[in-house]
Amino acid sequence: MTLPPPQHLLIVDDEAPHLRALCDTLSAQGYVATGFTSARAALDALRKQKTFDLVLTDLMMPEMDGIALIRTALEIDPSLACVVMTGHGTIDSAVAAMKQGAVDYILKPFKLSTVLPVISRALAARRLRLENEMLHKHLHARTLELEAANKELETFSYSVSHDLRAPLRAIGGYMELLLESLGDRVDSQSRTYADHVHAGVTRMNILIDDLLRLARTTRTEMHRMPVDLTSLVREIAEKLQAEAPGRPGEWIVAPDVIANGDPGLLRVMLENLLANAWKYTGKTARARVEFGIEHQPDGSPAYYVRDNGAGFDMKYAHRLFGPFQRLHSERDFPGTGVGLATVQRIIHKHGGRIWAQAAPDQGATFFFTLPPGSVA
Ligand SMILES: Nc1ncnc2c1ncn2[C@@H]1O[C@H](COP(=O)(O)OP(=O)(O)OP(=O)(O)O)[C@@H](O)[C@H]1O
Ligand SMILES: [Mg+2]
Repeated sequence: MTLPPPQHLLIVDDEAPHLRALCDTLSAQGYVATGFTSARAALDALRKQKTFDLVLTDLMMPEMDGIALIRTALEIDPSLACVVMTGHGTIDSAVAAMKQGAVDYILKPFKLSTVLPVISRALAARRLRLENEMLHKHLHARTLELEAANKELETFSYSVSHDLRAPLRAIGGYMELLLESLGDRVDSQSRTYADHVHAGVTRMNILIDDLLRLARTTRTEMHRMPVDLTSLVREIAEKLQAEAPGRPGEWIVAPDVIANGDPGLLRVMLENLLANAWKYTGKTARARVEFGIEHQPDGSPAYYVRDNGAGFDMKYAHRLFGPFQRLHSERDFPGTGVGLATVQRIIHKHGGRIWAQAAPDQGATFFFTLPPGSVA
């Protein structure tokens, strides 16, 4: 284990014997103590050697008072911890020194037992402040990196989609022309091949559209407001039910569920979750889809969409939210695999979490949270 580097103290006191005593005792405690009887000499040393961690200064000195010394010292190195020493009569000056940036004061005359905790506290506060600044810098750098990566990704998705569309249109178009120019000479086998090409082109177009939609989710700006999730779920459910007339379905929607979020994004999110619930109950005799709230151990709400459909094996759950990841075959349940990737992006944009619970043929439940105070 490596020992932490010794802390450098700059001590200023115009009374030489007092200064010497302080330097000796603090050095004996493991600090590197450098003493000055002159404030100007101390500031010169600080300018030359910027390795000091703390300034301990007398307040009343003939050449320059401790307050002016602290002000200049902090101009040279704003991260310095500054502590003043003052007699009982000058407590007001100690307060003035604190206003200039001193973190603490010691009343004279003092014992070593009072000085040591003040110094170690001031140094600890400085360390924390420096660590905090470092974290902020890291965070800022990471945010910039992330923004750059996101922009790059958006540009990439857009250009890829556009670049893919043109040759795709050409394939479809030339296939039509080929069939036309061949006219009667097209036999049924060739017609089947042509149909396969068309199906491929159509599927590719859907994939490109979905890719673009996914990229757009992160581009949109958020506008948070109270959103009536109950009404939204009922509206989406009615639409899904209307698209499949005659298909029996039971929709259980908890009343008065209001959450804070972007109305447009929350709609897209619920459309995807409910469309999934409706799709993956397609082979269930009586589909039941439920929307509600469950309270987590800390009391905060987790919203859920539950169905009694095909479900899935939890050992593949880690793949659910990846773009183009699917746990069911296209033959059983058609889809592209971007719905849940979009849902997850929307929830993360709101500062929330999303997770699922399911078992094969036992249905699935998707939980999500929307923290009230979070920012995008
Ligand atoms: N309610 C559900 N029940 C069972 N499996 C589900 C459910 N929701 C999602 N899944 C599984 O997760 C996969 C990813 O879902 P996702 O919504 O991203 O894609 P998709 O529904 O296949 O296609 P689409 O892009 O059209 O939404 C699905 O393919 C399916 O295997
Ligand atoms: Mg889906």
